Amino acid sequence: MTDDFVEQHKLLARLVPQIINDYAAALDSRRVTPPSTPAELEKLFDEPLPENGVAIEEILRRFREDIEPNAMGVPSPKYFGQFNPTPLPIGVWADALSSLLNQNAGAWRNGPTSAMIEARVIRWLCDLLEYGSRSFGTLASGGSEANLIALKCARDNAVATIKDRGLRSAAGDLVVYASEQCHYSIDKSVDLLGLGRESLRKIPTDERFHIRVDALAEQIASDRGAGRIPCCIVGVAGTTSTGVIDPLEDLAAIAREYQCWYHIDAAYGGSLAFSSQHKEKLRGIALADSITFDPHKWMFVPFSCGATLVRDGGRVLRDSFDMSPEYLSEDRGGADVEFDFFRYGQMGTRRFNSLKLWMAFKFMGVRGYAQAVERQIELTNYLASQLDQMPGFKRVGQVETAVCCFHYLPDSVSRLDGIEQDRVQQRLQQTIERSGEAWLTTTVLHGRRAMRVNINSFLTEQRHVDVLLNALRQAAFTL
Ligand SMILES: Cc1ncc(COP(=O)(O)O)c(C=O)c1O
Repeated sequence: MTDDFVEQHKLLARLVPQIINDYAAALDSRRVTPPSTPAELEKLFDEPLPENGVAIEEILRRFREDIEPNAMGVPSPKYFGQFNPTPLPIGVWADALSSLLNQNAGAWRNGPTSAMIEARVIRWLCDLLEYGSRSFGTLASGGSEANLIALKCARDNAVATIKDRGLRSAAGDLVVYASEQCHYSIDKSVDLLGLGRESLRKIPTDERFHIRVDALAEQIASDRGAGRIPCCIVGVAGTTSTGVIDPLEDLAAIAREYQCWYHIDAAYGGSLAFSSQHKEKLRGIALADSITFDPHKWMFVPFSCGATLVRDGGRVLRDSFDMSPEYLSEDRGGADVEFDFFRYGQMGTRRFNSLKLWMAFKFMGVRGYAQAVERQIELTNYLASQLDQMPGFKRVGQVETAVCCFHYLPDSVSRLDGIEQDRVQQRLQQTIERSGEAWLTTTVLHGRRAMRVNINSFLTEQRHVDVLLNALRQAAFTL
């Protein structure tokens, strides 16, 4: 068995790197979107439960022939979709190494180095945001879970008895505030926390999609007047649709005035902190009680890797999540318990996810990340300036990060009703999607469908943006 185990590793170590190298080498020239339909893929994988084991070579053949060619080209430099990056090579291989050790990063004894490395990368994220020496945090599966952890802390901070006695122990309904541009995970979080989706007040935004501070203050005052309990204000640093940043300092002042928790969802925009040129856009971020930051977005760490950071130390997370079950509560002399990460969030068994983040930090350094972030924002500005010169294309909002949104509204389309205008945007997006040349998404802004581009691959160069611009011109021409 031992020999077999070593032989399996040797065989895989010979075959898998070849697959990875071939994939990486062809990335620039391959289709971004696979041509297959859901029905075709369903048929491809429609097989019974395997009765007998299959040879490694055969399993890898299926990966090469069926899985890889039908996968979305997320790592492509012409993937302009959601906040999904090309993963850093060091991150890809770190994932294999962390699986090799299979540390259970839940409890210190099951993962001593993983616990220390997790504490270290959390420290680095906090230092990056200049979050103060007391700050701490925990890795999470992504921004959704990170937001949920933060909102649980907010809820328990508002009414300490809820954790044990439930919402009936609160003297009034708890209310959470975020702009109408917030990520849907905030809606899910208030639901999961028992507050109900109606407890989330979606505050209107200004023309450029920042939360309107005046509307927020009015809404809080009105809820207070009606006997409700303002529980949390959520500011967004890098909204999902447009990438813009809410006025973080103004929100802090309101949270202070109403004594409610202040959470900043910087899942995407947190990486602006790497750049001395752009970090000013995050001014006020360190005033938050908690912050969401997703290394699997603008730090190019492979999925999945998110983080919740808290300003006032690990105690905040432990107040909300700590438990000491018999099987994990032996006395080990005290200090090591601090590194039991199951005490800081919902997950029990946890992956050694900090390894890929630690390696990514080391490989890139602050300087490497700053260069990548700055180049991507420059490329986004280039895209915006080209669109401004293309007949019929009209930008929506402004470029604050590496997101650019726009409509295709030549006179012939402007004359149509809103629903038809929306269909034109979708047709344009779908034409490009079908071509496989590049991929962009659509979203809804000011009630109308708009196209949305995010430059999130460190491999993207101006020539890739030109491919997208040409694809847009051609698709518009053939409408
Ligand atoms: C602003 C923001 N917050 C949270 C999330 C959720 O992150 P995840 O998809 O990693 O759960 C996203 C995802 O795009 C996001 O854009």
